[in-house]
Amino acid sequence: MTTAATVFVLNGPNLNLLGTREPQVYGSATLADVQALCAEACAQHGLTLDFRQSNHEGELVDWIHEAGRAHAAGTLAGVVLNAGAYTHTSVALHDAIKGTGITLVELHISNVHAREAFRHHSYIAPVAKAVIAGFGVRGYALALAGLAALAQP
Ligand code: DQA
Repeated sequence: MTTAATVFVLNGPNLNLLGTREPQVYGSATLADVQALCAEACAQHGLTLDFRQSNHEGELVDWIHEAGRAHAAGTLAGVVLNAGAYTHTSVALHDAIKGTGITLVELHISNVHAREAFRHHSYIAPVAKAVIAGFGVRGYALALAGLAALAQP
C-alpha cells in the first residue's frame, strides 16, 4: 500500500539569506540549518522530506502543482510553505493551492502580525489548513508535527 508520507517544505524569496538577513528578526540559523531541522523532524514522524527554496513566484507555483500531483497519487502528507513576501502579494499562489486541494501549513519565522501593516494580510491563509508564525525556525518542526498528526487515520 502506498502511504501519504512525503512532505514538501517550500521556501520563497530571500529565505536563502537566512543567517545573515535581519538576524534580529529571523535569527542566526541558515537555510541549511532549517533543512537539517526539518530532516530530523521528518525522521521522528516517519515522513519523507522534500525541501526547496526559490526566489521565483512561478517556480513556487510549479512546485505547488507538483505537490498536487503527489496528493492525487496518494503519496503526499502535506506541504509547509513559507512564501516570504509572496504571502502578502500572490494571487497566483492562492489559486495554485486552491486548485490542487493539498493540505498546506502557512509558516512564518517571525510574527508577521506584530510587524508592518503590509505583512498582516495573507493570500495564503484562506487556502491553508493551519498557520504558524512567530516561533522562529522551530516553527518548521511544529508545522511538520502538525502535518504528521493530521495524516494519522
Ligand atoms: C516571513 C515574513 C514575510 O513577511 C517576509 O517577507 C519574509 C519572511 C517570515 O518567515 O517571517 O520573507 O515569511
